[in-house]
This record gives sequence, structure tokens and C-alpha cells, in this order.
Amino acid sequence: KHSVIMDVDTGIDDAMAIMFAVKHPDIDVKAISCVCGNVSVDNVVKNTLKILDVLNAPTIPVAAGAVRPLIEEARSAAHVHGAGGLGDVNLPASSRQGQPIHAVEMMRHMLTESLTPITIVALAPMTNLALLLRTYPECAAKIERILFMGGSASVGNATAVAEFNVWHDPEAAHIVLNSGVPLTMYGLDVFNTVGLDAERVRVLAASDKHIAQVLGGLLSFQFPGEEEAQESSRRLIGDAGAVCALVAGDLMVRESFPVQVQLAQGANRGQTIVDRRVHIGEDTIHGTASAWPVVEVVLSADVDKVLELFF
Ligand code: BDR
Ligand code: CA
Repeated sequence: KHSVIMDVDTGIDDAMAIMFAVKHPDIDVKAISCVCGNVSVDNVVKNTLKILDVLNAPTIPVAAGAVRPLIEEARSAAHVHGAGGLGDVNLPASSRQGQPIHAVEMMRHMLTESLTPITIVALAPMTNLALLLRTYPECAAKIERILFMGGSASVGNATAVAEFNVWHDPEAAHIVLNSGVPLTMYGLDVFNTVGLDAERVRVLAASDKHIAQVLGGLLSFQFPGEEEAQESSRRLIGDAGAVCALVAGDLMVRESFPVQVQLAQGANRGQTIVDRRVHIGEDTIHGTASAWPVVEVVLSADVDKVLELFF
């Protein structure tokens, strides 16, 4: 069983990722840490607790973390996720309470007290994780791997070249990438391909099961602009695909490459530079890729099989 801490900015697709993780028999969600990203951290906490209600989940500690990125102002993605963050799915406020401590403290307690290493599944800007690794560097040894949705070896979404989670807090992503913790990057190369057709979404939304209705509602709203840009009109499962990578990595093509984050101001700030050269040659002349952290990058997936797993 995978012991997991999820770091989220719920968010339509974070909601679907939480649904999948909580329901999967081989995943033990120890805690959910919330961060400012798609919407404000307060809304992220509220949305997360509501989704746990929909799932009738056991008590899982949820805590609020960073209210903004390390350097930049927060830049919401409400245009993608709706004003509240869950599209037009209206759920009653939860009676569950968030933890009275900061998400970074919650993660530290979990990691320190755990007898076995924990995997962090990061589905949001990595501000909380950067703060954790800088404040309590000894925690790194208790993290088995950080599997993050973020970055890209090709196109961007927040900008032409930058993916939203990395772009929202590039310095945080840089800290995490260079932390020495084993990393898997589930970026836009694969993220943009894992989707289902609109007909299947309609069937879900019309179901008499509450979970299916909520899922159908979330998927109906998803990524209106992006959809047209993608082949056909597939509705992406987004962050949920990254959780699938945790339990079904064998359904995905993964390769390790040196990766760095572009931190300089300018048109490519927040880009993940993935060095896919076969022969990385004279570093002193051509760049310093050999000093870059090596990251396992998920490049593609057997989409039908991943969707089958998700459902
Ligand atoms: C990522 O950004 C957010 O809007 C989504 O929740 C996902 O984590 C995609 O770039
Ligand atoms: Ca997210």
C-alpha cells in the first residue's frame, strides 16, 4: 500500500484526483495539504473537505498552507476552474474541520512520526513543499518520492512554454527539483492526452449515484479552452492521471532526463527545461545539464487503460 500525502489546490481536477486516491485500495491518504493555486487557499480547503464528504471518506487531516507563492503575487485560475474552484458543481459546506496547524507543520508531523517513507503527490504549485524542505530539511529523508503534476517537455498552458503549477511558483519548483528527493514529473505531455469523450461525461452526470453525478459535473466544466486545442473534444481527468501514475506506472512511458526550471523574468519564466538529448556532451561548453537534477518524466500513457483504472 502506498502511504501518501497529497498537496493540492482543489480545483476541478484535484477533486477528481482526491476521489481516485481515497477510493483506491492500494493508496492510503495520510493527509491533504492545501496551497494557493487555482483558487485561494481558503477555498482550496473548503473544496477539499466537500469532496471528502461526497466520498464519505474516513477522517483525513486537511490543513491550509501557503496563501501565495514565494515571490510572485497569487494568480488564480478561476477562468479554468470556476470562481469557487469546482466549476458549477454546488456542494453543501462540509462539517469537517481543517487542522488548526499550518500544512507545513502537519506534513512535518506526519513525516517525522511515520515509520516508513511517505510519497508526496503534489498536484499544485509547490510552495508548501519548498517551505517544508527549507524549514525542516531533515524531512527529505522520510519522503520516498515526490510525484508531481507540473512542467512539460513540450508545450505550456499558463504561457506558451510554462505549465501552470510550475509557472505559479517557479522558485518553489526549483527548490523541490534540487532537493535530492527522488522525483517523478507528470507533465503536460501526458496530462493533455488523458481524457474521455463528452458522451461518457453526459452518462456520468445523468447517473443516479451521487459520486458519479459530481464527477460528471466536474468533467463537464473542465478546461473549456483547452479542449478545442486538444484532439477531438476529450474531457481531461487532469491531476487524477498523476495519481494513476502512482499505482499504474507500467501503463505509462517514463524516461529520466535532467530538468531545470527557468527562473529568469521574461517570456519563458516558469518553463521546465527538459534535456532530452541522447548524448549530453561537453557540459562546460554546451551547458551544465549534468549538474541538473535527474527527474523521471512521464511522457505518455495508454489512455484507454488509465481511464479504465480511473473509473
Ligand atoms: C495544473 O494546473 C491546475 O490548474 C490544474 O489543477 C493542474 O494541477 C495543470 O497545469
Ligand atoms: Ca491542481
